[in-house]
Amino acid sequence: MSAAIDLAGKRAIVTGGARGIGLAIAGKLLSAGASVTLWDRDAPALDAAVKRLAGQGDVYTAEVDLTDENAVAAATNRSVGAMGGIDILVNNAGITGPNATTWEYPVADWRKVLEVDLTAPFLCCRATVPHIVKGGWGRIVNVASVAGKEGNPNAPAYSAAKAGLIGLTKSLGKELAKSNVLVNCVTPAVAETDILKQMTEAHVEYMLSKIPMGRFVQVDEIASLVLWLSSPLCSFSTGAVFDITGGRSTY
Ligand SMILES: NC(=O)c1ccc[n+]([C@@H]2O[C@H](COP(=O)([O-])OP(=O)(O)OC[C@H]3O[C@@H](n4cnc5c(N)ncnc54)[C@H](O)[C@@H]3O)[C@@H](O)[C@H]2O)c1
Repeated sequence: MSAAIDLAGKRAIVTGGARGIGLAIAGKLLSAGASVTLWDRDAPALDAAVKRLAGQGDVYTAEVDLTDENAVAAATNRSVGAMGGIDILVNNAGITGPNATTWEYPVADWRKVLEVDLTAPFLCCRATVPHIVKGGWGRIVNVASVAGKEGNPNAPAYSAAKAGLIGLTKSLGKELAKSNVLVNCVTPAVAETDILKQMTEAHVEYMLSKIPMGRFVQVDEIASLVLWLSSPLCSFSTGAVFDITGGRSTY
């Protein structure tokens, strides 16, 4: 019996799929035979991503600001129309916001980070779960962060939002536990993507220094874990948090 992951016929949405970790996840899902819709607010990056993924399978895109409830609902309807349904949702889009202590953190940035990193995944789950449940099988994977487990100093909004996303994962996982739709999250350590441009060099150094393996995680390593969580091989885990921190977290 083969242990290969087969997602033929499955329909996936990857938010923030235009670059970085999301693009790597989209590539893995395609390689397993799924069709994939990339949701992102960056239209030129979406076009570039489609070119990168050309020939790997059925790829669709939706230009959408994930913090806009109506836009998410419209993108859901368009994706259901294009792919014929939704089986897999990967809530990957995120921002870090600037680095500052909690007492110096700009309130506007706090609100923005919470909107993108926590409210947007809620809106995406809210809009897509009825469609996923209708299909009788599904997987939802939320891309949180080790910051949500441990709390990074000078990243209060990001740490709080990602801790919130872990909580949302646990709540929704239990709500859907009997529906054949499993909900899990991953908590990566730092990866070298465009998101690092939002942070200070000192903060990136701090995050790297905390990793016992002494290196960045590769986007393909995160994507492989997400692929497994998106597949039938993951069958008795829901509402769970999957560590991918090179040894930083011990739980
Ligand atoms: N790179 C890391 O070190 C790291 C570590 C742990 C967790 N993460 C998490 O992984 C996820 C992906 O990170 P990445 O490093 O690939 O980031 P990235 O900045 O390279 O890509 C993020 C994508 O999300 C999109 N996006 C952001 N806000 C959006 C919005 N409101 N609406 C639609 N699209 C939006 C961007 O346009 C971009 O294409 C994020 O949730 C991030 O917090 C990243």
